[in-house]
Amino acid sequence: MPQLASLDDTALDALLGQSLLTTASASDERIAAVVSLAEAFAALDRAGVRTPLCPQELAYAVFFDNSTRTKSAWAGAAARLGMTPVIVDGSSTQVAHGETAEETGAMLGMNAHALGIRHDLILGEGNAFMGDVKRGIDDYLQATGDRRSVPIVNLQCDVDHPTQSLADLLHLRQRFPDGLAGKRITVSWAYSPSYAKPLSVPQGLISLMTRFGAHVTLAHPEGYTLLDEPVEQAHRFSSASGGSFRVVHDMDAAFADADVVYPKSWGPHALMLERVAANRAGDKAGMAAIEQRCLANNARHTDWICDERRMGLTADALYMHCLPADIGAEVSHGVLERFRVSLAQEANWKVYVIMALLAGAKVPSLAKRLRELESP
Ligand code: CP
Repeated sequence: MPQLASLDDTALDALLGQSLLTTASASDERIAAVVSLAEAFAALDRAGVRTPLCPQELAYAVFFDNSTRTKSAWAGAAARLGMTPVIVDGSSTQVAHGETAEETGAMLGMNAHALGIRHDLILGEGNAFMGDVKRGIDDYLQATGDRRSVPIVNLQCDVDHPTQSLADLLHLRQRFPDGLAGKRITVSWAYSPSYAKPLSVPQGLISLMTRFGAHVTLAHPEGYTLLDEPVEQAHRFSSASGGSFRVVHDMDAAFADADVVYPKSWGPHALMLERVAANRAGDKAGMAAIEQRCLANNARHTDWICDERRMGLTADALYMHCLPADIGAEVSHGVLERFRVSLAQEANWKVYVIMALLAGAKVPSLAKRLRELESP
């Protein structure tokens, strides 16, 4: 299998013990190693080769928000690696009663062998929570002389959704096997009447896709800015990679001649910040009132939809979405239906990304082990 022949043993060994909290914090070499490993796992899985590399280990995930794709990808990845997946609702844990992230990390780390976390709803909280959980695990393991490594995988926070953006990158590599350099990729806000969605998907996209020489456009109405840090990263990465990054406030202009469009909704920045204090105060009525104002704000931009007219402005673009999409709001029925199978293929990469993150962090001499599994 060419995907296994091209694995870099040294680069894979460097993944050992690594958690992934944002892609921006990972080197180009590490991103390349995870991508090549995910492609190898996909090739093995599709050829029916079993990969039980972590038997009798517990892959524990905590979700403080709903999920279909990421939960099932976590379970699917763990099962393919011979681990036992367990997924719990964060609101059913003692975090809901005020137990700290460090304490939670120590408790989960002593019992589990890998930890996934989704904590994406409140700005300033999710990524910080993951960092504190990691400190709790690491401190406990070090203090007790426990030599296990318990990596954390960010399954979406307020800053980034790395298993999603890496899955998206893998999908793009299939579509553009010669690379992303020079490709025009548009990440656009789109109208949603359903709820004020996190900022982490567009932030994750602009801070990853700018690393490969693409011309990345971020489009949104006034007032829908992203956090400063990922926007600064996008500028920095695009300069270093020979690509470009721009922000526009016109969806048609953003779609013009695009090779890839990724239109999805997120919440208005000022109101997302207002939620922070209301959430800390446990003000449920305040949170509900802010949500209604978010949706009223969104409703001023119902024309931000990805439909056939807008797709006609592109260079026959690939339509992408992390899903679930608001059909008839973010995207027309026709466009979604045209790309239905492609969207499922995009989503399918997540199971292999999670396998790569878990096995890369836990299995020594991984490239050699995979070659042995391919040719026993
Ligand atoms: N794209 C994504 O993360 O989907 P879920 O919310 O269903 O996990």
